[in-house]
Amino acid sequence: MSQDVVLLGGPGAGKGTQAQILQRQFGYRQISTGDLLREHRNNGTELGKAAEEYMKRGDLVPDALMIDMVDGELHEGESVLFDGFPRTIAQAEALDALLDTEGRGLPEAVYFDIPRSMLEERLLGRWTNPRTGRVYHEKFNPPKSAGLDDEDGGPLVQREDDKPETIKKRLDVFQAQTMPLVDYYDARGRLARIDATLAVEDVTHMLIHAIGLEHAH
Ligand code: AP5
Repeated sequence: MSQDVVLLGGPGAGKGTQAQILQRQFGYRQISTGDLLREHRNNGTELGKAAEEYMKRGDLVPDALMIDMVDGELHEGESVLFDGFPRTIAQAEALDALLDTEGRGLPEAVYFDIPRSMLEERLLGRWTNPRTGRVYHEKFNPPKSAGLDDEDGGPLVQREDDKPETIKKRLDVFQAQTMPLVDYYDARGRLARIDATLAVEDVTHMLIHAIGLEHAH
């Protein structure tokens, strides 16, 4: 298996869903900055406290905090799926520099193309296992028993930032601050685009193809 991959897409585009599938199938490590921040918040760390207000409002947490956090997560000899990072040009430049310091090449980026109107419906119906980060959707990907995780049977919850007004803010922030990364990776010849409106398994298929994993089994 090859190299680091950045999953790029709006809130609810399916980055976490796909990262979990590829992690299980191909041994990638998923680094979800959203999950890590929620873990910090639940553990009451300084970073968690600093991030909380930004997350509640649907704003981005400051770049310096995010870059430090990701730096501390990178380990030699693993291929990472970055889920939710980078989200600004400054974060993308910092990631390139961090990977370069470790002798790793530039990451491949995959843009999850999906209209804004579909993202809202996905976020409003999302249920998550807070212990494992596993996500479901009440209509598109329901658990076997409503409100309970298929794997560990624990209760599923809705995220605090999946409320209509916060969703709108997150979508605006994505458009303004993260969309420029599509051009950033395209200009470096490192961008693939996939149709993220399709069913989960079809998106997985395209993602595997986009990062050249068809023959990795
Ligand atoms: P984060 O947790 O990263 O949230 P996000 O980017 O808004 O992404 P989501 O987790 O909402 O969506 P997803 O694409 O993973 O979709 P999912 O697979 O769950 O960030 C939260 C906050 O943390 C930010 O607002 C910010 O404050 C802070 N933060 C995090 N990283 C940061 C950074 N780098 N810099 C600064 N701040 C940062 O799918 C969504 C739903 O759709 C689920 O219900 C799923 O079951 C369903 N679904 C998935 N795929 C499909 C499909 N193909 N068809 C039908 N339904 C589907």
